[in-house]
This record gives sequence, structure tokens and C-alpha cells, in this order.
Amino acid sequence: DKSEIGLFGLGVMGKSLCRNLARNGFKISMFNRHVAGVEENVAKDFKAQYSDLSKAEAFDDISAFVNSLQTPRKIMLMVNAGKTIDHVIEDLLPHLSGNDILIDGGNSNYVKTKERCDYLKSKGIHFIGAGVSGGEEGALKGPSIMPSGDAEAYKYIQPFLEKIAAKDQNNLPCCTYVGPEGSGHFIKMVHNGVEYVEMQLLAEVAIILKTLGQNPDAIANTLERWKATVNSYLLEITTVIFRKKEGDDWLVNKILDKAGNKGTGNWTTIASAELGVPSTLISSALFSRYISFYKDERIQLSKGFDKGDPSELRLTTTELLEAYQFARIINHYQGFKLIAEASDKFSWNLNLSEIARIWTNGCIIRSTLMTDLVEVFKSTTNILTNTDVIKVVQQTKKATKKVVSACVTNDLVSPALSEALQFFNGITTPYASANIIQAQRDYFGAHTYQRLDDDSGKRFHTNWI
Ligand code: 6PG
Repeated sequence: DKSEIGLFGLGVMGKSLCRNLARNGFKISMFNRHVAGVEENVAKDFKAQYSDLSKAEAFDDISAFVNSLQTPRKIMLMVNAGKTIDHVIEDLLPHLSGNDILIDGGNSNYVKTKERCDYLKSKGIHFIGAGVSGGEEGALKGPSIMPSGDAEAYKYIQPFLEKIAAKDQNNLPCCTYVGPEGSGHFIKMVHNGVEYVEMQLLAEVAIILKTLGQNPDAIANTLERWKATVNSYLLEITTVIFRKKEGDDWLVNKILDKAGNKGTGNWTTIASAELGVPSTLISSALFSRYISFYKDERIQLSKGFDKGDPSELRLTTTELLEAYQFARIINHYQGFKLIAEASDKFSWNLNLSEIARIWTNGCIIRSTLMTDLVEVFKSTTNILTNTDVIKVVQQTKKATKKVVSACVTNDLVSPALSEALQFFNGITTPYASANIIQAQRDYFGAHTYQRLDDDSGKRFHTNWI
């Protein structure tokens, strides 16, 4: 009998998803291209390694793979985002028939996903762009899945995706139909932007704790205590990271301080700029990674300038915890703001509470804060208008100011913590300095300005000299 679903691409994520599907009782077909120079059939080799794949079928021939599937065929693509997806689509197309469904489970650009939806629609094929988060372990034990595209086609793949997804605290799947076009990949992209900031904040906090004299074990102990207030997957793994030793030293001390990236933080920043949304924390976290990359220049320039004495830093860990709490709220405010604005602009009609819900488990940014936001978004799209959130912001702002000023005074690098405060001050300022920008624009370019004492929308120009 034919297989219920096919998996194309047996990289780290593809392999884990295959095992997850098979363990959940689905009959699957697996495909991986023949790798030149390798004797073995990759898919067959993989099948032989795991008993949970005993009923799975393994192929390195596209036609046989496609023909092994029940119609309408459901094929999940787990290949590298970018051009590879288009090549795979072209390779598959001659073998497909009308109403077959392709699911792109990679970190694809949302604009490309819409183009692929339109292109495949013209060929009678359905295309679902699905963000998948959780890394290798998540994919195996239950990822968070963010599918979007053709709502009718989604019904055919819903039983598979919802079964293999992580479950929320009410045992509902961390997978929901997100919306049309590339909205699933859009929210996965924002997920990664929020992920960059959460990681950056923990990195900044750790450097501050180190400067306060804590060794990696002590930092882990501090973060461990914070779990009661701000638990998250990233906090948990960072605790484990700080405990890891290699010989007499901690491993973290031996890792080169250059942060890589695969491009999604970059896209989030570009999308924010294009949509006119101030995602300042995401760009700050992204650019911090870029600064880290200039290792040689950093070493060279460190010699020419005086730095403050870090032993002068005076802060309590409670103050630091509060600053961290404050910055995380701003991070989540900005991330969901970006989603809300995109939803408006593209008429996607996204449900912020549902998005927060499918991010409460399985994904990299799952946290107790995310669980709280599921409720918050049931009554507002702006978390800074929720009374509980307002209370936390008011309780933590004083400590945040203290932490940020201490970092500035002692020349400690803390861009995300600082930007959280700057952004908060900006978004809560009724009369900003932008009147001066408008005057300058009018001065040199006759760009005109509107007046506070005229609400007709009329535009004014002044001859400034
Ligand atoms: C996830 C992650 C994952 C992402 C990596 C790499 O949700 O499982 O977001 O999809 O690809 O974290 O991201 P960078 O290489 O850009 O840090």
C-alpha cells in the first residue's frame, strides 16, 4: 500500500521529522538525492539505522518516490532555503498531478513563498509554506509548526502536522493554520528575530554578571534562580552552557567570540524597514553579531582607546533580572507589532493570540512570558496597554535605568538592554523631537510640514532665511 506522506531531503531536520512522523504511526516515503561518490543510498542507509522507520520506504529516484504516495500527494520539502527549493520544485513538477500538495518546511523568505504559491497554483499544485521551529530535537519530539497558504489544501495535511507538533499546556497542538500566502514563513522569520534578541539579552546579562565577578558556574546558578520569574528554553540552555567544562576550564571561555547567522535576522530587519516598523531590538541584535565578526579590527582598536574600570561596576543581580525582564517585554512588543503591521498591510488577518499559543512549546522562543501573552492578546494587540504588563514595566524600569547607566559609565557593551529603554522612552513620549527634523527637511528641500495648531492636514512651507 502507498505511503500517506513523503519527506524530501534528509538533512538534520528532515531526518528528525521522518522519525517523528513514523513514530506517530504514519506510513511515510523518504527521499534523498543520490550523493556523488557515496556508494550507499542515503535514504536506505538512514532507514536501516532506526527501528521506528521499519515501515518507511526509502528512495533516491524521484519518480519512484512520487509514485509511492497516495493522491493527492503530500510532500514535505526539507531542503536548504533559497534557490534549492526552486530546483526541487522543477524536479518534482513533471511527476506530480493536479491538487498534489508541496509543503516547504524550511526557513524560506516569505516573499518567495508567495511567488511559489502563485507559480504552483498556475500548475494546479498547492503550496504550503510552513515555518518549523525547535531544531533537531524539536523536529524529533515535537516542533512548533507555522503553516500558511491555501486553506483548503491545509485540511489534507492538518492531521499529519498537528499530530507531530509539540502540545501546549492544554494539550492542543503547537501548529495552526496561520493565514494566506507566505504569512507562516513571515511569522517564522519574526520568531527568529525575537530569538536573536533573546539570545543577545542573555549574552549581555552574562557579560555583566562576569564583570561583577561571577565565574561561569556562578552565572549558571544566578540564571537558575531566575527561572522562577523568567523561565524560557533559551534561559535553560544558557544555564547548561555555562556549566559545561572542558578539562579545568569552562568550554564557553574557549569559544571564539564571532557570532554567525543564516540570514533570517537580516530579513526581519529588512522587512521592518520596508514596512516602516521600528524593530530596533532585532536590528540591534543582528548588528551586534555583525560587530562581533570584526574580531581583528576590535583587537586593533582596543589598543588605542581608554576603557572604564569594570571593577567599578555596582549592581545587584535583582536589578539585572529586572532589566532583563523589562527588555524582554519590549522585545515581544516589537516582534508582535511587526506581525500585526504586516497582517494589516497584506490583509492576512493574523491571530496574535494563536501565534503566541503555538510558540508556547516546541519552538526556540517558548517561555512563561509567551504563555502569558496568549491571554494578553485575547483582549489587545498592544501588550503595553495590558494592566499586568504595565505593572511589570513600572516595577522594572527603575532598575533598567540603573543597569543601563552603569553599563554606559563602565564602558560595558549592552546594546539590546540600552535600546529597550530608549525605545520605551520613545514610544511613550507624546511630543518628540521630530518637529526639528521636519523643519530641517523643509529648510533644505521644501518638503513642507504640518502644524500642531492646524488639524486640517494642510502642509506648510516656510522661507527660512
Ligand atoms: C528554530 C531556529 C532555526 C534557525 C537557527 C539558525 O526556530 O529552530 O530559529 O530555524 O535556523 O536558529 O539561525 P541563525 O543561524 O541565523 O542564528
